[in-house]
Amino acid sequence: MSDAPDPYGFESLSLEWLRAKPGTKWGQNRDVLNAWVADMDFPPPPVVTDALRGLLDSGDFGYPVWGLEHSPALDAFVARSAARYGWHITPDDCRELNDVTQGIQIALEHHTVPGDGVVVLQPSYPPFLRTVREMGRRLVPLNGERSAESASGWMFDWDSLDPVLAIAPAKVLLLCHPHNPTGHVFDEPELRRIVALAEQHDLLIISDEIHADLTFAPNRHMPIALFAPERTVTIQAASKTFNLAGLRYAAMHIGPEALRERVNAVADHLYGEPNMFGAEAARAAWTDGDPWLDAVMAHLDAQRHLAVELVCEHLPGAVATVPSSTYLLWIDCRPLGLGDDPSEEFLRRGARVNEGPEFGELGVGHTRLNFATSSAILRQIVQRMAG
Ligand SMILES: Cc1ncc(COP(=O)(O)O)c(C=O)c1O
Repeated sequence: MSDAPDPYGFESLSLEWLRAKPGTKWGQNRDVLNAWVADMDFPPPPVVTDALRGLLDSGDFGYPVWGLEHSPALDAFVARSAARYGWHITPDDCRELNDVTQGIQIALEHHTVPGDGVVVLQPSYPPFLRTVREMGRRLVPLNGERSAESASGWMFDWDSLDPVLAIAPAKVLLLCHPHNPTGHVFDEPELRRIVALAEQHDLLIISDEIHADLTFAPNRHMPIALFAPERTVTIQAASKTFNLAGLRYAAMHIGPEALRERVNAVADHLYGEPNMFGAEAARAAWTDGDPWLDAVMAHLDAQRHLAVELVCEHLPGAVATVPSSTYLLWIDCRPLGLGDDPSEEFLRRGARVNEGPEFGELGVGHTRLNFATSSAILRQIVQRMAG
């Protein structure tokens, strides 16, 4: 543990406190160390708990004052997009959602029909694969590989998509930007290459940017909509950045006018309305949460390096690259000889990490470790993985 100031207690987590948490990460299996689902172990930003407490103390859980108009969270999203990313949008072009995956499914529903191709980067955040499968769309995989030449340690061979799409056209490119589970950050030249490809093959870009704020400097997140406003649907949430996933709030910007009109033509209650607690939490986080975010990023920056060091020390042979974004470490465990799903053995040894094969074919023999915890607990997690 370092002597650096720790005003939010990121380094003072106790296992007792974590094990008493009711959420899915720790609540299912309290005997092991949990480093799986993408929730952080830290308490949420005080500005969020204060805002929620204010709502509770008001004693008014009736319809919010914003009624059927958009919530103040959407205004905060629009203001933050301009201030942080130079991306100027209006609330009229947005929809509020319960979650990011819902937005992906709404865009797919209105832009594609069963059998249409959807390009998905591999390894893939598992709900992308489930969504494509369950909606009867055709998966067009684009494989990533580790590359010493890329700043993030990862590359996607965009040129290889050209001949594939020339033979079997697709309708959508579903981008995870930045990329879960590798942490790859798409820089401007790569974003421009993706947009050129999308234009050439007339692809709608659905960009899940939920991890955007978790980009480590000097890498910089740029919304892909900056380069292709008319063909991009962007979905964002405060939930990964500020650890609020259970509150269910997300915002979707729909660039293409025709698609926006189709989505807006749907009966107004079909996709639900945001819950005022989720909206209030997102508003508070996006408006006043940046000091907490700066602190958490400084902590995660140290943790990402520590995580790789610990893997090298305790799991020699396993391959892990310091991620450029997020608090997730994608580990190639094939050299350890632990089978297709090493997480099973890690669980037996007392640490729960994510099942690699759920991330698609490239996930076989891999696992994903969540390092958003204290350095002491991270140490114990990797030691347990080593058995
Ligand atoms: C890339 C990505 N998209 C979406 C989500 C989930 O967002 P939601 O719960 O809002 O659907 C996650 C959660 O880990 C994620 O990593």
